[in-house]
Amino acid sequence: MKRTFLSAIIILAVLFLTSCGGGSTETQNTTEQETVKKETVEPAAKSELAIQLELGEKIYNEKCIVCHQADAKGLKGAFPPLAGSDYLLADPIRGVAQTLNGSNEEMIVNGEKYLAPMTPQVQTKEEAVAVINYVLKHFNEYTDDQLLSIEDAKDVVINPMK
Ligand code: HEC
Repeated sequence: MKRTFLSAIIILAVLFLTSCGGGSTETQNTTEQETVKKETVEPAAKSELAIQLELGEKIYNEKCIVCHQADAKGLKGAFPPLAGSDYLLADPIRGVAQTLNGSNEEMIVNGEKYLAPMTPQVQTKEEAVAVINYVLKHFNEYTDDQLLSIEDAKDVVINPMK
């Protein structure tokens, strides 16, 4: 009789401990979930500029890189440079317009003549500003406050070359 009583107590104790154990794992899980939640929330807190530059980088790597090259130095005589381009840096808004509408003119870039046409590269002003800002920051050491806003490009007319 005593034995049964003892084993009953032991079983109860074990049950109690396991349920406690379960409880504490749950708490741990919740803390883990909270940590995960916090981590996934963080990217949303990224600045508008960071998001824009990411888009610009994506566009550059998908579109511009073929001609203007991974280092943005272009190919002498064929594709003008975007890194250290005296032509682009003299008027980055013109660069936005060219990215949007294409370019078909003879131009001198860093003393070299270029005349092959470039077809329109993007559909929207937002995309054009994003990729030019990426080029200015990533390949020309522009600081964030030197970059273009959409407002800066308000006079750019979307008028793709024929
Ligand atoms: C198929 C090749 C090609 C692709 C792709 C291309 N370009 Fe060009 N780009 C050119 C050529 C050729 C010129 C010279 C155009 C001219 O003489 O009118 C040029 C000129 C430019 C210029 C003005 C000249 C300079 O070097 O500052 C800018 C700015 C420019 N491209 C930006 C871009 C951007 C941004 C992209 C990607 C979204 C891009 N280009 C994609 C071929 C290309």
